[in-house]
Amino acid sequence: MTMVAMLRRLALSCYLAAALLLLVFLNAPLTGAQPLPWQLCNATAGNYTDGSAYQANIRALASAFPVKASASPALFAKGAAGTGSDVVYALALCRGDTNASSCSACVTAAFRNAQQLCAFNKRATMFDDPCILRYSDQDFLANVTDNRGRSGAFNANNVSAASAAAFDAASGRLVNATADYAAEDSSRRFGTGEVGFDQTYPRIYSLAQCTPDMSAAQCRSCLRDIIVQYTPRYFLGKPGGRIFGVRCSFRFETYSFFLGRPLLQLPDALSPAPAPAAATREGKFSPA
Ligand SMILES: *[C@@H]1O[C@H](CO)[C@@H](O)[C@H](O)[C@H]1NC(C)=O
Ligand SMILES: *[C@@H]1O[C@H](CO)[C@@H](O)[C@H](O)[C@H]1NC(C)=O
Ligand SMILES: *[C@@H]1O[C@H](CO)[C@@H](O)[C@H](O)[C@H]1NC(C)=O
Ligand SMILES: *[C@@H]1O[C@H](CO)[C@@H](O)[C@H](O)[C@H]1NC(C)=O
Ligand SMILES: *[C@@H]1O[C@H](CO)[C@@H](O)[C@H](O)[C@H]1NC(C)=O
Ligand SMILES: *[C@@H]1O[C@H](CO)[C@@H](O)[C@H](O)[C@H]1NC(C)=O
Repeated sequence: MTMVAMLRRLALSCYLAAALLLLVFLNAPLTGAQPLPWQLCNATAGNYTDGSAYQANIRALASAFPVKASASPALFAKGAAGTGSDVVYALALCRGDTNASSCSACVTAAFRNAQQLCAFNKRATMFDDPCILRYSDQDFLANVTDNRGRSGAFNANNVSAASAAAFDAASGRLVNATADYAAEDSSRRFGTGEVGFDQTYPRIYSLAQCTPDMSAAQCRSCLRDIIVQYTPRYFLGKPGGRIFGVRCSFRFETYSFFLGRPLLQLPDALSPAPAPAAATREGKFSPA
């Protein structure tokens, strides 16, 4: 397997190409090619100037949010700063397996990176591990189901042709079950999971998360949308992939990429089927 960093970008259909709404394709390992953070900057929506009230409001949020997010049980912060046309709305969410200090450090870095990588843009989104951040002059907080503005990547390796269908079934089942687990977590909307697979890929791991201000149904629907939208197109036969959204995100890999024991353990994907029950055996017949 070549480790040459190969990066391709593709605009997501739902996003304006001009606004840098990208699906990032990465070589394996995921972290080895295009390093996080991934930014989405909206340079067409408007810019602020150095010394402006808008900038001061971003800075106020940048100083408040690391504390606010890391002190919250779900590692989540949302809110606004300023008045009139200078209001800045923001949301930050740390991964559910993160501790308070790394959450706080990640949100601090995300504000700094956003102001550098999307310099003077009023709207910026940062996808990083273990946190995401968006700020905007638009009240995107009002609509908890608005998950527009996403980035993603897949592991460029391929599962062998002989195993691909079974792998996709196992990883798909795990991703779905982890999404359901996250949706049903009423306090954090966070889930991790694992399933045993084969000798090449002994275990598959997954993670799913929504912002904790979503209902179970909203979270499930948000995750289902991104799973159904991207899996058939980008993740079939791939041993890893991830989609970042501001409202919900998921990831699966053949190595462990989160802290702690997986919250959900599925039975091994390839374990032999249980012996058929007597009633089933009775139904056997030989075609003529
Ligand atoms: C960027 O801003 C423009 C102008 O308001 C808007 O039409 C477009 O949807 C925005 N793009 C994103 C990604 O928010
Ligand atoms: C914002 O600034 C960027 C970079 O300087 C520039 O390309 C863009 O046209 C500006 N956007 C607006 C709406 O003025
Ligand atoms: C928090 O997590 C980071 C990263 O996993 C770790 O290095 C650090 O020791 C942890 N800090 C505490 C206080 O547990
Ligand atoms: C919220 O955002 C979603 C996704 O963009 C959209 O379909 C829905 O109409 C929005 N709801 C409201 C009340 O604007
Ligand atoms: C995986 O398969 C795709 C499509 O068949 C191919 O283009 C790509 O080069 C393969 N990747 C690797 C690492 O072999
Ligand atoms: C995962 O859930 C989606 C949406 O409900 C469904 O279309 C898909 O078949 C499921 N995948 C697996 C492997 O069960």
